[in-house]
Amino acid sequence: MDLKEHIRGIPDFPKPGILFYDISTLLRNADAWQVAMGRLAHAVAPAQPDLLAGVESRGFLMAAPLASKLGCGFLMLRKPGKLPGRTVSVDYELEYGQDSLHIQADAIRPGQRVVVVDDLLATGGTLAAAIQLLQKVGANVTGAAVIIEILSLKGREKLGVPTSALVSYE
Ligand code: PRP
Ligand code: MG
Repeated sequence: MDLKEHIRGIPDFPKPGILFYDISTLLRNADAWQVAMGRLAHAVAPAQPDLLAGVESRGFLMAAPLASKLGCGFLMLRKPGKLPGRTVSVDYELEYGQDSLHIQADAIRPGQRVVVVDDLLATGGTLAAAIQLLQKVGANVTGAAVIIEILSLKGREKLGVPTSALVSYE
């Protein structure tokens, strides 16, 4: 199956000049969703994660079902003000703006193997911040996985861990 047939590019969202790759159509299609999760599971398994970390919000849609499929734990990397208890954070630049990510300070036991999962790798700012944050709290980040990679932005070069993408666009 060509997963690209289930992904739409919507121009000028959320700002003029940005082409937004929309996974809503993939998620709505039971077969495409199943195929995408199967391929992601296959890509992530060699990294032997104890936990998958999902990046709020669209990363949650990938990471939670994938963790369940792989039989590993799931943890949330969230936008500010969402996680209870003590948190650790990093700030990062987005393709269109600035934001920060938080993790619960006790989310990781030292040395646990973690793969970070998101829907899309563009500039790599988000995943690089996620990896930095996980390492800050003691994780051994053994990989990253996304459905979509935008090759021209070279985000992968910022990550420093083996990275899998199911489909790519220039
Ligand atoms: C989008 C996307 C990735 C990130 C990719 O998330 O879901 O997380 O941008 O961009 P980057 O590689 O340039 O950092 P966004 O922050 O728009 O929020 P959302 O997931 O909550 O929709
Ligand atoms: Mg996101």
